[in-house]
Amino acid sequence: MSDTSNLFQPTTIGTLTLKNRLAVSPMTRVSATEDGCATAQMAEYYGRYAAGGFGLTIIEAIYIDEEYSQGYVFQPGLANDAQQASWKAVVDAIHGNGGKACIQFVHAGALTQGRRGRTGAIAPSAFQPLGEMLTFYRGEGKYDVPSEITAEQLTAVKASFVAAAKRAVAIGFDAIEIHGANGYLLDQFFTAYTNQRTDEYGGDVRNRIRFDEELVRETIAGIGGAVPVGIRLSQSKVNDFEYTWPGGEDDAAVVFPVLEQAGAAFIHITEHDATSEVFGSGTSLAGLAKRHASIPVIVNGGLGNPETAAGVIAAGNADVIAQGKSALANQDWPNKVESGAALEEFDFGMLGPIANLDNAERWAATKS
Ligand SMILES: Cc1cc2nc3c(=O)[nH]c(=O)nc-3n(C[C@H](O)[C@H](O)[C@H](O)COP(=O)(O)O)c2cc1C
Repeated sequence: MSDTSNLFQPTTIGTLTLKNRLAVSPMTRVSATEDGCATAQMAEYYGRYAAGGFGLTIIEAIYIDEEYSQGYVFQPGLANDAQQASWKAVVDAIHGNGGKACIQFVHAGALTQGRRGRTGAIAPSAFQPLGEMLTFYRGEGKYDVPSEITAEQLTAVKASFVAAAKRAVAIGFDAIEIHGANGYLLDQFFTAYTNQRTDEYGGDVRNRIRFDEELVRETIAGIGGAVPVGIRLSQSKVNDFEYTWPGGEDDAAVVFPVLEQAGAAFIHITEHDATSEVFGSGTSLAGLAKRHASIPVIVNGGLGNPETAAGVIAAGNADVIAQGKSALANQDWPNKVESGAALEEFDFGMLGPIANLDNAERWAATKS
C-alpha cells in the first residue's frame, strides 16, 4: 500500500489545531426533534466520528433563524435557547473523544421543503428552482417559486447568522462553516441563473459573491474572531448536478481572494470528483482555491480511497480531506486506514427511505 501518512499530520486552520487532515463532511440526517433540538442519539453519532479518528467533525447544515432558513422537517437549528442548550452534548461527545467540532450554518432559501410555522420561501430572485424536492428528506414534487428577498430580510438574515454564530461560540464549537454550496440561499446569490438581480448583489461574479463576502465578514466581526469562520462552495447543487461556474478560472480568481480578504479562515470545496481538472486550468477546483488564495483549503468529493486522498494532500491541492459517504460507511475511517484495516463500501440502503439515524441503525442491524 502506498504511503498515506501525510493524512495523519497535524495542521492548523486559523487559531485551530487539528490532529490530522481528516474531516467528516457535513451530512444532514434529519434526526433532530421536530422543534430543531439535537438529541442524545445525535451526540452519540457525532461522537463516534471523533472516536474513529477524525480530527474535525463538521456537523450537518443547521438553520439559523425561525423565519425562512429551515429546509427540512427534523433538521436541527441554532436559533433559540433550547436549541442552543441541546448542542452541548454533541460538542462534549466530540471533544471527549479527542476531536474538534465545526458547525455548518445554512439558509435554505428557495430550496426549502419543510419547516415549522411558516410557508413560503425567500431567494435573491423569484425563480422557481430546477429539479424536484429530495424524497429522502420527506420532500415531494417541485419546489415553490420563492419571493424576492427584501432589503430588510437581507439584513435580518445576516443578523441571524451572527446571532447563531454567537450561540455556537458559547456552546464551545471550535469552528464555523457557512454553507455557500449545493444550491441553498448563498449559492442562489452566487449562481448566475438563480440571481437575476440588478442591484449590487446581482450581475457579475463580484456582485454575486457579495452576499457571501458580507456574511463572512459580519459573522467574524460578530464573534470577535473567537473561532475560525470558513465557507463551503461548490459548482453543482442538490437540484442541479451539472452547473459549472460560468467564468471558469476567472470566477475563481475573483471569488477566492474576496473571501480571503473578508477574513475567511478556510475555503471548503466540494465536487463530485474532487480530483477532476476544471476549466482547463491544470488543476482541480480546490487546487484553484490554493492558487488564488493563501488560506487552508478543505476538499471533499469522491475521496474515500486513502491513496487518492493522500495524493491530493501531497500535490498541495488541499490541506484537509473531508469524507462524506465513505465516512457514513466507516465512522472510524481514519483509525482503519492508519491500522491498515479494510474499509466498508458505502451502501445507499443506509439512507433510505429517509436519511435519518433511525434508518441507518435499522440498516446496520440487518448487516450484523
Ligand atoms: C445524506 C447526506 C447529507 C448531506 N448533507 C449535507 C449538508 O448538510 N451540508 C453539506 O454541505 N453537504 C451535505 N451533503 C454533501 C456531503 O457533505 C458531500 O459533499 C457529498 O456526499 C460528496 O462527498 P463524498 O463523495 O465524500 O460522499 C450531504 C450528503 C449526504 C450523502
